[in-house]
Amino acid sequence: MTKKAEHKIIDILTSLSKRRGFVFQSSEIYGGLASTWDYGPLGVELKRNIKNLWWKSVVSSHDNVVGMDSAILMHPKVWEASGHVENFHDPLIDNKETKKRYRVDHLIQQQEQSVIDALFNKFDLKIKENFSESDLQIVISNLLDNHSSGQIMEECGVIDPNSGQVGSWTNLRQFNLMFKTHMGPIKESGSEIYMRPETAQGIFVNFLNAQSTARQKIPFGIAQIGKAFRNEITTGNFIFRTREFEQMEMEFFCDPNDTKKWLEYWSNKRLEWFSNLGIKNSNLRLRPHGKDELAHYSSACYDVEYKFDFGWSELEGIADRGTFDLEQHIKHSGKKLTYFDTVNNKHFVPAVVETSAGVDRALLTILADAYSEEEVNNEKRSVLKLSPKIAPITVAIFPLMNKLGMPEIAQKIDNDLKNKLNTFYDAGGSIGKRYRRQDEAGTPLGITVDHDTLEDSSVTIRNRDTMQQTRVPLENILNYINDFLDN
Ligand code: GAP
Repeated sequence: MTKKAEHKIIDILTSLSKRRGFVFQSSEIYGGLASTWDYGPLGVELKRNIKNLWWKSVVSSHDNVVGMDSAILMHPKVWEASGHVENFHDPLIDNKETKKRYRVDHLIQQQEQSVIDALFNKFDLKIKENFSESDLQIVISNLLDNHSSGQIMEECGVIDPNSGQVGSWTNLRQFNLMFKTHMGPIKESGSEIYMRPETAQGIFVNFLNAQSTARQKIPFGIAQIGKAFRNEITTGNFIFRTREFEQMEMEFFCDPNDTKKWLEYWSNKRLEWFSNLGIKNSNLRLRPHGKDELAHYSSACYDVEYKFDFGWSELEGIADRGTFDLEQHIKHSGKKLTYFDTVNNKHFVPAVVETSAGVDRALLTILADAYSEEEVNNEKRSVLKLSPKIAPITVAIFPLMNKLGMPEIAQKIDNDLKNKLNTFYDAGGSIGKRYRRQDEAGTPLGITVDHDTLEDSSVTIRNRDTMQQTRVPLENILNYINDFLDN
């Protein structure tokens, strides 16, 4: 676990995203709304490509996985049944003097080793050099059980990162992360509902509808992509942790004796998916959860993690949820959410292996991994080396000059390619500047119509990564691009 965050890549990506139109701060003209973000012209294309590739990999390429799209607003009893009303908490703490509020796990992660050692000592825990996520959870649960937790934090010298001084801490308390709103015009207690904190429950409550209409037999999965909302105490790192985000989730219903097998299968499949997006394998890992880290519904879990410069961080969780969710909904709704096994002629409650990824986090990871800086002719070149599979623009088309018939030829190339690929026509500024803009947008290929085109009916195609330029006859452009995309 990294204790001190550097956030360098995050700062670089935040400004590149604004400059190039990937991500903007939400409601910017009113000063912005904390940790909410809007996706711009390039961001929305990149996001769509990520979601399409996920859908292809999880749904379309499996005969036994079907899709759905459930409502964000659900019956409040769903969240009682799921355990979110009772258990979906983060521990928080306030500094009485500075009035700053922190998520306790994040606060402790930012402390010097001596402070962490003091906390371990306080609860007679074994001090380790590199304390893990599960060690952290043990310290926090000890603090939560103690009536003088604030005083202990003070005695151990826990610093408020905002003031740089030991904080005057309140006791720890749990904070429910669900956003509440009201249904209908009158705010009365019965009208209170929640914005969904995960898309998964929309799948569980539709288990029988989807299974019976798609005539699926166990094992089979139901998948969906959609928005989720969490009133996170500490947000930050750009789009890594926000209060509104998008999830790509799949619930795989199987025989309760087979969850181990399916947990392994889906964990490896999901890790492979991130790697196929072009993310470097050395920056990816699959980490099994320690017992203390498991969510209230889960008996085993793997995280796909990425090595950001602020430490290894979760991109996706793959969890054995057992029969917890369906059993809970059976109990709370009184409905029979069982599966009929025609071979053995019996009804049973299937177990579930879940894969749960964040779209925004995947997008941030892709940008972070693709970003590179190089020196070219004594100038810095920043480039997003995005896989052509996900790049928002596949080919940019440039007339070298806005005269001599070059724009007309370039526009014809653009029109011919438009229906098959994402293209971008750019006639503004020097050709060098136009290349640099597309390097930062992650566009893998650039086609330039120049003086030679007028003579020999060929164009220059520039490769973003190697910057090599190849002459290609006009009639071969599409073949050249297709060959490039196939390799
Ligand atoms: N249904 C299980 C579930 O929701 P989770 O680990 O809480 O599990 C799954 O969330 C994924 O959703 C995370 O791995 C992350 O990619 C994304 N996610 C969760 N909270 C997020 C937040 N506040 N901002 C952005 N992404 C988030």
